[in-house]
Amino acid sequence: MIEEAKQYIPGGVQHNLAFNYPFPLAVAKAEGPYLYDVDGNRYVDYLQAGGPTLLGSNYLPVQEKAISVIKESGPCTGLFHEYEMKLAKIIHENMPWVEMYRSLASGTEADMIAIRIARTFTGKQRIVKMGGAYHGFSDQLVYSLHIPGTKTFEAHGIPKEVSANTREFYPGDIDGLRKVLEANEKEGGTAAVIVEPLGPESGTRMVSENFNAKVRELCDEFGALLIFDEVVTAFRMGPGGAQGYFNVKPDLTVFGKIVAGGYPMAGGVGGRADIMSCVAAGVKPGKPKAYVGGTLSANPLSCAAGYYAIQEIIKQDAAKKAGENGDKLCEGLVKLIDQYELPFVAWNIGSIVHFEISGVMYLSVEDPELMQKIPARQHCIEEFGAALTANGVITLAGSRIYTSMADNDETIAFTLNAFEDIFKNLER
Ligand SMILES: Cc1ncc(COP(=O)(O)O)c(C=O)c1O
Repeated sequence: MIEEAKQYIPGGVQHNLAFNYPFPLAVAKAEGPYLYDVDGNRYVDYLQAGGPTLLGSNYLPVQEKAISVIKESGPCTGLFHEYEMKLAKIIHENMPWVEMYRSLASGTEADMIAIRIARTFTGKQRIVKMGGAYHGFSDQLVYSLHIPGTKTFEAHGIPKEVSANTREFYPGDIDGLRKVLEANEKEGGTAAVIVEPLGPESGTRMVSENFNAKVRELCDEFGALLIFDEVVTAFRMGPGGAQGYFNVKPDLTVFGKIVAGGYPMAGGVGGRADIMSCVAAGVKPGKPKAYVGGTLSANPLSCAAGYYAIQEIIKQDAAKKAGENGDKLCEGLVKLIDQYELPFVAWNIGSIVHFEISGVMYLSVEDPELMQKIPARQHCIEEFGAALTANGVITLAGSRIYTSMADNDETIAFTLNAFEDIFKNLER
């Protein structure tokens, strides 16, 4: 099937997180904690569609609601529908600093619009991100992805001048952030500092516990807005997201996948009411507006799926259950790494489990051999990921695991067996 797809789709796959080595998988369905390929093989699924299926895939109570909304309202109406309000309200009830919320189509769009709102509101141009963090693929944010300091290395097809107002600081380096903010003052100031609150790539480089509070203080000192990208952490870190967990108030919050509960058109931006007023719909003369569109955004299907998924996540205490599964899995992994005396590292923040085989994102731009090391280390991850897949386990890019409420002692034991089988057979 993939061979045929290659004739019509570049490379035959369309997901950045797809495993392509030694060949991509054609998946037939996602259900509960499992994925099934077209050959009927079953895998424990820790990719979780990139994170949103905290309840497990295709969770029946949400699926039933989604089908009934399609039957009653149709998937999109083009005008306001009650579920838009219900979704905005349930987000606000759980994350009170999100006073107002605007639905969009993806996390990428939400990040892109968040910085546009920040510039409109503050009248300043510069934005600052943490090196290595991912905030979607919009022109200005394809900047220092994966490895801090790499700047426009991955920005092919994007004019250099587009990121002229994007700056970065080294993950967790508060003094470094201050220096960037001070430098920006000479250039008209900083509109916003945008961070993934756990650290870049969902905590691949962990930040300290008081890091976000310190960023908040610096934003206040320099008159910059604080944007939390909670595409992964919202509801996964608990009902209040990372902002609730760290008790730090962002001015704007970026949402993705989870706000449609694993259904399509999943993104949104929310925050302080005065700031969010910059995106009131319709193009009217007068007060400056941050231009936002999206014909199919805020449709009844996506909003209802998000609303019911969030309702179930709270009712079932899904973040806690998924987090406990993450703890058990990580504990088992750490034990195996020790037992087989391997130079690997595993750690978790609840349902977000990291394991590093070759530390590709830890490479330094100052390393003269960087360009040779990236493909070599990437290949280690590919081989390890392929071995895990062959043993019936799918991870996110061979270095991350998202657990869900649907995982259980059986899936965890199966996974640890898969890791052990590979650890036993590693060539040294
Ligand atoms: C932290 C973060 N921000 C933004 C995005 C982009 O979201 P989307 O894939 O919906 O465009 C992602 C996607 O994985 C993400 O992890």
